[in-house]
Amino acid sequence: MLDRLEAQSPDALLALIKLYASDERVDKIDLGVGVYRTDEGATPVFTSIKQAEQRLIEEQNSKSYLGPEGDTAFVSELMPYIFGTGNDDIGGRIGGMQTPGGTGAVRLAAALAKQAGAARVHLGSPSWPNHVQILRDIGLEAVLFDHANEDGSANVDALIAAIEGASEGDVVLLHACCHNPTGVDYSADEWARIAEALATHGILPIIDSAYHGLGAGMEEDVAGIRTVLAAVPEALVAYSCDKNFGMYRDRVGAFYVMARDGGQLDAIMSNANALARANWSMPPDHGGAAVRIILQDDALVADWQNEIETMRARLRKMREALADADGRVGGLNLAPLADQNGLFAILKLDKDQIALMRSKHAVYMAGSGRINIAGLTSGNIEKFIDALADVAG
Ligand code: LMR
Repeated sequence: MLDRLEAQSPDALLALIKLYASDERVDKIDLGVGVYRTDEGATPVFTSIKQAEQRLIEEQNSKSYLGPEGDTAFVSELMPYIFGTGNDDIGGRIGGMQTPGGTGAVRLAAALAKQAGAARVHLGSPSWPNHVQILRDIGLEAVLFDHANEDGSANVDALIAAIEGASEGDVVLLHACCHNPTGVDYSADEWARIAEALATHGILPIIDSAYHGLGAGMEEDVAGIRTVLAAVPEALVAYSCDKNFGMYRDRVGAFYVMARDGGQLDAIMSNANALARANWSMPPDHGGAAVRIILQDDALVADWQNEIETMRARLRKMREALADADGRVGGLNLAPLADQNGLFAILKLDKDQIALMRSKHAVYMAGSGRINIAGLTSGNIEKFIDALADVAG
């Protein structure tokens, strides 16, 4: 029977990790998969996580099962950072559970929407390639609209048109901040327009937050979530700690639902629990427990926030250096990168130019033209700009 299976091509983004590793050129530059790097090119374990893990090893006396919802204290300790403090109105209407990474949370949100009757999900294109893959795998139709304009701004009109044209029971998938792959986020005014359109047309939003803190700031990066949740009756939020706690391979995420009223939460969460049980049974504990230990300790929280601030400042510096190189790289428009957010930006290079960046200059970037800004350092950015000038100039 298994001989009926046709070979699938490997995930193009993840395949870049191996291609890069096998390149022997010493001056190679990895701008592929979305992982933060220091100016030395390292992705170290956060010092706050190291301390929390040390404490976890000393204090943990059992690894017995916790259940499909995972570490509930981890889930609730994160909530003020996402939803704000002192927001009693929605406080009693939000439930959540731990998931294997943000991917698990997106999958759970989409599966729950399908279980509730959704058939179509509208999302901006381009998006994280795994979004469409997950939706299709679950049996949801992905309906695409243009996320960004040619000038590097967000195409809010296309999103509003998608919401206005959506049928009852449709869902809209939004990036909370640091849009992957474009870096093009919505302004506060644009979020207000989006929230109003969602509320008016009764469309359920799924908001994916995978880079909280790496864009404009800890509060700024979740302002869109808060604006939408203040306007709509119900919403789903997928949250990843993989980047903002540097936990990547430990797979740390959370799924939240805001219900119309608190009385519906038990029924909704019982569905989410059943879906989790069928998918992965229970989330991995270690990373979530380490994050929980940080969030329960003011000194560790301060360390963690400092680490995020350092990351954010470095990304901003690299963005500004690229924007300053506008004019040196032919027709490529680098100026908008200074105002965009997070790890990613799209460069308008064609397939041949991207291939040349790799073969001639040892620069690895996604086939979509996406670069991971964190792969640039003060030591390699000039080489990268020269390579761009050579290929696109
Ligand atoms: C990325 O887009 O590079 C990251 O989100 C990693 C991944 O899982 O694709």
